[in-house]
Amino acid sequence: MGILNKNLSPRRKQLRETLAIERFAKLAEVVNSGLPTAVSILLVFIAICSFLFSFKTNAGRITYRPSHQILSVIIFVTVLSFAASVYIYRYNYRLIKSPMRVLSLVGLFLILLLLTKLSTLTPVSQYLSVAVAVAGAIIMTIVYSQRFALVMGIFYSALACLAAGFETDFGFFLTMAAGITTSSFMLREIRTRVKILEVGVFAGAAVFILSFSTDLFDSEFTRKIFADAGWTATAVICVAVVIQAFLPFIEKAFHIATSMTLLDYSDANQPLLKKLAMDAPGTYSHSLLIGSIAETAADAIGANGLLCRVGSYYHDIGKIGKPRYFVENQISTASRHDLLSPIMSQLVIVGHVRDGLELAEEYGLPAVIRQFIETHHGTTLIEYFYEEAKKKANGTGVLPPESEFRYPGPRPQTKEAAIVMLADAVEGAVRSLTEINPTKIETTVHNMAIKRLQDGQFDECELTLRELSRIEEAISKNLTAHYHGRVAYPSATPAKPSQPQHLLADEEEDEAELEND
Ligand SMILES: [Fe+2]
Ligand SMILES: [Fe+2]
Repeated sequence: MGILNKNLSPRRKQLRETLAIERFAKLAEVVNSGLPTAVSILLVFIAICSFLFSFKTNAGRITYRPSHQILSVIIFVTVLSFAASVYIYRYNYRLIKSPMRVLSLVGLFLILLLLTKLSTLTPVSQYLSVAVAVAGAIIMTIVYSQRFALVMGIFYSALACLAAGFETDFGFFLTMAAGITTSSFMLREIRTRVKILEVGVFAGAAVFILSFSTDLFDSEFTRKIFADAGWTATAVICVAVVIQAFLPFIEKAFHIATSMTLLDYSDANQPLLKKLAMDAPGTYSHSLLIGSIAETAADAIGANGLLCRVGSYYHDIGKIGKPRYFVENQISTASRHDLLSPIMSQLVIVGHVRDGLELAEEYGLPAVIRQFIETHHGTTLIEYFYEEAKKKANGTGVLPPESEFRYPGPRPQTKEAAIVMLADAVEGAVRSLTEINPTKIETTVHNMAIKRLQDGQFDECELTLRELSRIEEAISKNLTAHYHGRVAYPSATPAKPSQPQHLLADEEEDEAELEND
């Protein structure tokens, strides 16, 4: 190797080094992508499933399958698991990035398959297996999405046929698939308390028809065929009732919130919202406005509008502790920041994110709502106080580090969080404009969107440029509608330009000042 290196020209050596660095960076990227962990979890899943399916229940007794069947089971499970993984890799790559989410999906599959396997010890295995499959489909639709539940449900049905010992029964597979597809299609959003029950009834009907028709194909019409179909449908409806009862636990286990829960949190009687309205009324009305703007913007790109609205209501709850330090709650023209140094002011302002998270913890807000508190300022710079600190430091010649005047982050991880971040910043900027008209609103919204984009605030949320432009359009329309009636009375005495109070509070006001400059 040493001899080879000696004969190389310096240019080739440099090229080799660059290539080696690039290869190392690529390797590090793969290692950090979560892919190796996901593959390891997949292999464990294949091993457990193969072991589980190597047994067969015969007249209430558990026996080993013959070796050729075991080999067949291993091949079947491996092929199906890899096919499902390719689907996830291609269409749900975000899931692979989070080992916890991969673990919960694999855990859910294993629990369902184990329940199916255990059901074979009972005489009603057929009904229970279908009901368990529908339960899985409902849970996957709630936790992930309709499309995901639909595709994964079909993979699950094939595995469940093995678990239930009906590996050659196509009618059983079809019955399960009917329950899974119907429940996934029907369950778009849970906005009412009886939604899952409704879904259960429809899935039960689909299961009844498929079970009845496939059994009828094999034999003459008997009462047993009718009764079997009826019992399978009843089991599906019962499982829907059970899921409805356990919904809060499912939400907690998977760190999600259904629309029903979100609607509960949007109620003005929620203790935290009541507290916000009482202690920081300015912030409360600001949050309501952001909620309306963000919901319209989210709907414009097909994101979750309700989540945006509810997240907006809570995004600034950290201001409850020190409401007077934020401009929207100031009663007099004098600002409390006058008495503080820029670094102290910056600490108070940044502190509202941390205080918000503490309050969210105390009041048990779900993680999906907490993300808005955590990320609505991302890692943006508090420009006004940074400029003030620079002015003060000018004499000393030592400029303050910019990082000290940035929010700690993280940056928005979802499209909904990015929308709320933009709506929040834009609302403050537009509110501070001296003259408000549709063109000025549009310009302010666009400038703010570009500023956030260039600052890298949308780098972690998969927002596309086309979506950003639709969001801008929706926010501009909404703000124009909100401010359209504001016409100055000719007789009104012009307001005395007092303290630049809009500069002294939250970050959005700092932005506004710079926009006006
Ligand atoms: Fe804030
Ligand atoms: Fe805000």
